[in-house]
Amino acid sequence: MSDATNVPNDLNAFWMPFTANRQFKKQPRMFVGAKDMHYTTSDGREVLDGTAGLWCCNAGHCRPKITEAIQQQAGELDYAPAFQMGHPKAFQLANRLVDVAPDGMDHVFFTNSGSESVETALKIALAYHKVKGEGSRTRLVGRERGYHGVNFGGISVGGIVANRKMFGTLLTGVDHLPHTHLPDQNAFTRGEPEHGGDLADELERIVALHDASTVAAVIVEPVAGSTGVLIPPKGYLKRLRDICTKHGILLIFDEVITGFGRLGSPFAAQHFDVMPDMITTAKGLTNGVIPMGAVFVSNEIHDAFMNGPEHLIEFFHGYTYSGNPIASAAGLATLETYAEEGLLTRAAEMDSYWADALHSLKDAKHVIDIRNIGLIGAIELEGIAGEPTKRAFSCFLDAYERGLLIRTTGDTIALSPPLIIEKSHIDQLVDTLRTVLNEAA
Ligand SMILES: Cc1ncc(COP(=O)(O)O)c(C=O)c1O
Repeated sequence: MSDATNVPNDLNAFWMPFTANRQFKKQPRMFVGAKDMHYTTSDGREVLDGTAGLWCCNAGHCRPKITEAIQQQAGELDYAPAFQMGHPKAFQLANRLVDVAPDGMDHVFFTNSGSESVETALKIALAYHKVKGEGSRTRLVGRERGYHGVNFGGISVGGIVANRKMFGTLLTGVDHLPHTHLPDQNAFTRGEPEHGGDLADELERIVALHDASTVAAVIVEPVAGSTGVLIPPKGYLKRLRDICTKHGILLIFDEVITGFGRLGSPFAAQHFDVMPDMITTAKGLTNGVIPMGAVFVSNEIHDAFMNGPEHLIEFFHGYTYSGNPIASAAGLATLETYAEEGLLTRAAEMDSYWADALHSLKDAKHVIDIRNIGLIGAIELEGIAGEPTKRAFSCFLDAYERGLLIRTTGDTIALSPPLIIEKSHIDQLVDTLRTVLNEAA
């Protein structure tokens, strides 16, 4: 099937994000439809979604409840001012969200993306210390290889060099923990690696260098995704929590990809049983359908702001589209879909089948490590000498031709299928990957 009306006649105007634009425009890959686990391409092929879009369509595609909720909301109340006015669905959604969040996180600040959630959380952290009378706490600590979106705060605490190096000096007063990728000791581990928990102690060194009275917050992804899937070593997150608590430093978990069931619990905080002070989210919040993010905030942080004369704004921050009615309707329908289908815990049921299937690729060509947790997987390839990323990228192109959408970062293939995935899809995904890897140059 070739539908000429679905094919744009000039690809030049759109400067595509995080894309090899010239390569794409010579060899475009266009999706024109989607349903459940599959995309449809402009030349009529079905492609199995191995990445839930971009880690976001956790309930799969074009789910009726979400589609209908959006359609209905658009005809009922399209927009309401986000500042000094409200509408019921934003409050309903905030309540439903805190129902699934860890205990003691009873407040939600709405944003429009993961990047904005990160900026919001960093600003709340700085302002929190200020309202508590500890305005000297201004330093932020991130981690090497961390990804926290693309805004200035996020790239400052983030640790992906390509995302940082073009953009000047970034925020000042930022330190980085070492990353936890230890392939020599942990290669081919299922779930949490044995080695590296002590890397959390590097936080003590950073605190000792600057003094705790200057440190506001530590931000990490509980499972680092965009850098190529780094699963926290056993005990690592708990140690970070303990050190933060000891020194009065806020701990922020960036759960933009781990939130909403990816690990088999609603949030990674519950999965690892480590409670941060804030959680940043987006993506799965609306099943990726409409842009929306949310920062979950502990009661203590929220309550610290609720002071002073009542006619005054407590926190000078927000977005025109914070809690947008259509996004709120999508969020509510998404949470209902997750609840009806048990999707926030389904990854735990699929975990061992997924792990077995992925690790069966251990002997495929070029594979130097396989990592997995929940419904996340990573297959790290040996790069081509002098041409990093090229081998993985050509696997991505070949997989697409063979009807499978994967994602690559560096020379790692990252997988994060919709949480509705069935065993037959897992078999298809792994079989396709085996062929792709074994045929790769
Ligand atoms: C951990 C994490 N934080 C933040 C972001 C940025 O989200 P967005 O692209 O919605 O701004 C991402 C996106 O992948 C992410 O994985």
